[in-house]
Amino acid sequence: MRVRTAVFPVAGLGTRFLPATKAMPKEMLTVVDRPVIQYAVDEAKEAGIEHFVFVTGRNKGLIEDHFDRQYELEKTLELRGKLGPLAQLQKEVPSAGHASFTRQQEPLGLGHAVWCARDMVGDRPFALLLPDMLFMGKPGVMRQMVETFEVTGGNVIAVEEVAPDQVGSYGVVARGAGPDNAFRVEGMVEKPKPDEAPSNLIISGRYILQPEIFPLLAEQRLGAGGEIQLTDSMQALMTQQPFVGVKYVGKSFDCGSKAGFLAANVAYALEREDIRNQFLDLLADRGIEASFTSIPQAAE
Ligand code: G1P
Repeated sequence: MRVRTAVFPVAGLGTRFLPATKAMPKEMLTVVDRPVIQYAVDEAKEAGIEHFVFVTGRNKGLIEDHFDRQYELEKTLELRGKLGPLAQLQKEVPSAGHASFTRQQEPLGLGHAVWCARDMVGDRPFALLLPDMLFMGKPGVMRQMVETFEVTGGNVIAVEEVAPDQVGSYGVVARGAGPDNAFRVEGMVEKPKPDEAPSNLIISGRYILQPEIFPLLAEQRLGAGGEIQLTDSMQALMTQQPFVGVKYVGKSFDCGSKAGFLAANVAYALEREDIRNQFLDLLADRGIEASFTSIPQAAE
């Protein structure tokens, strides 16, 4: 079955970015000139997603406005003959009825946030994108996963390698047989102690899940950090359905951390032909040597 719907959990408070996030959602912080959330939505679109479900919270109204049309602005751009930016703006808004918003009323964890989307997702497989994580890859990471899913079915999760002392901050998988773009996942654990981690392959924040995850999430068992963890329900679902790991081709930026967010700004600015040279000159003025490396490409 085709993956049509994507869920974006965007209820987090963004305390790591205060005061910037006092009145503004962290997902609206900009990487170059686009909000972080826009990159995840673009990645989903590239993978064929048509319905975008946002699990929001209080103070997240700007996200809803961002994915709506802004007639005054559109009219002004039209009158001024700025047809390029106008077309770009219009292209980026999901078509009528294709963006849905629901609220996570209490911050009970990622598993709870995903469960809040159950009625909007219905009885079909869905994509899940954690927007803090940005990925540069060609094709995008969700597209790479959909390509695997079309062959394997089941549940698909993107993974990447990290240094062994970092695993405790993530969900970690045990790798079974199969190639990098479709291997069997044999187990997973959320935020393990480094000596108890099954590998250094972490769950990267991109998933394709079957709807049978929802009754498991409904049990609302508390896991690591006293939160309802998605990883625990996935581990439970693994007794009924296969999980396939995709070690994606690309580069990730964790925009949940300040350093990762700044690194994303540098990397995405260097990707942009309209900014690259001027930006490199400005960095060089400060004695910083940066180089442009093109986006990693997955094999055809
Ligand atoms: C969440 C998931 C974790 C995953 C991580 C990726 O953790 O629970 O399994 O590895 O996202 O960013 P969080 O960042 O919410 O602590």
